[in-house]
Amino acid sequence: MVGVEKRISSASLVVEKGHGEALYHLLKEKKWLNPKMQPKETANGFLAIPINEKCPITEVEINAFLNRDAIGIRFENVILHSSPPSVKPHSRLQESITRWLEKNLEIGERESKAEVMAELMAEVPTKWERLGDLILLPQTAFESKQWSAIISDKNQLSLWKCIAEALKAERVGRQKNIRNDVERSSQAQLLLGDSSWVELLDYGVRFGFDACKVMYSSGNVTERHRIGNMDMKGETIVDCYAGIGYYTLPMLVRGGAKLVHACELNHYSITALEWGAKTNNVSDRLIIHQGDNAISLTELEGIADRCHLGLLPSSQPTWKLAIACLKEKGGILHIHMNVEEEKIEQWINSTIHSLQQYVIELKRNYNVEVLHLEKVKWFAPRVRHVVLDVEFIHYD
Ligand SMILES: C[S@@+](CC[C@H](N)C(=O)[O-])C[C@H]1O[C@@H](n2cnc3c(N)ncnc32)[C@H](O)[C@@H]1O
Repeated sequence: MVGVEKRISSASLVVEKGHGEALYHLLKEKKWLNPKMQPKETANGFLAIPINEKCPITEVEINAFLNRDAIGIRFENVILHSSPPSVKPHSRLQESITRWLEKNLEIGERESKAEVMAELMAEVPTKWERLGDLILLPQTAFESKQWSAIISDKNQLSLWKCIAEALKAERVGRQKNIRNDVERSSQAQLLLGDSSWVELLDYGVRFGFDACKVMYSSGNVTERHRIGNMDMKGETIVDCYAGIGYYTLPMLVRGGAKLVHACELNHYSITALEWGAKTNNVSDRLIIHQGDNAISLTELEGIADRCHLGLLPSSQPTWKLAIACLKEKGGILHIHMNVEEEKIEQWINSTIHSLQQYVIELKRNYNVEVLHLEKVKWFAPRVRHVVLDVEFIHYD
């Protein structure tokens, strides 16, 4: 029968609740969750998370994936409730806006209400970004001539509230183009709510930032997880474009880095980074260098095991400075870049060539080797956001 929850004995991983979120995200990412069943709190502050048959159930394997010291995972069959049938947010939004239009749409004598409604409904966004309890609508959402003619000072609040309710959020904003300046500033506009400060928990790392002042790329989530999964214990790292700590914080919290030097220009991002460092309890392992990295990197020569270069479309102006930051014994660069899909191989070769040139100019004895190329996301049609991991290996 549709809509009736069943209670079934389900293969589950049981962990202390404090580790539940990180484990849940790992299982989801690896497609090892059993989505048909709901996780459940068991006695003494433990959480049972339903898994499918593909999930490796040895504690050692799971701990290795989480890149943590043993967190104490048990495999058990637990009686769980089946998941309720999902009502898609898109349908909820459509239904809710249809109801809003029925109340607020006034049409001329010669117009057909059904037709006007259909045209308006065709413009309702089908994509949005969720940042905690804030929904960021796309830049063009409800901005067309037709929608602007209906939305008034009097009724707009009720529209934003109906969107928030349909998408189970508290606040609503609208994206504006990320400003094409070095700081990649956000210019989002808050439509419902008093504050645009948002706080997110991503794979065990807490981020906080003002969504109307700085950008947050949810699309980089896999790369954040990949970087956080690397074992950086004992390493000193330079994050050349730290932003709010998209990579700095995972490197400290999950990667276990000894020290991160974070270079950043934008004071709104620095406020967010300081908040993140304090909230994640890693301030004592973070040094923030406020200002242009063309200057701050010159003060960090020869100290790093790894440099992170997370600027799009390209971080090339900083490549040579970043190599100079590596220790004499060598290290790793993570180079972000937007590259046309069919030119990726060509770009790798030319990048390695440029890096070798910089090595010669810096009089370092390094061999330059590609470790890995990660395709993070589509940036535009045919253009990929990629990250090239390059190792600089010292020779005598
Ligand atoms: C797109 S964000 C990148 C943040 C993060 N690394 C990522 O990839 O998601 C770029 C950040 O680099 C900062 N930035 C750009 N040019 C810089 C420079 N010359 N020196 C220091 N920071 C810079 C910007 O303020 C912005 O916060």
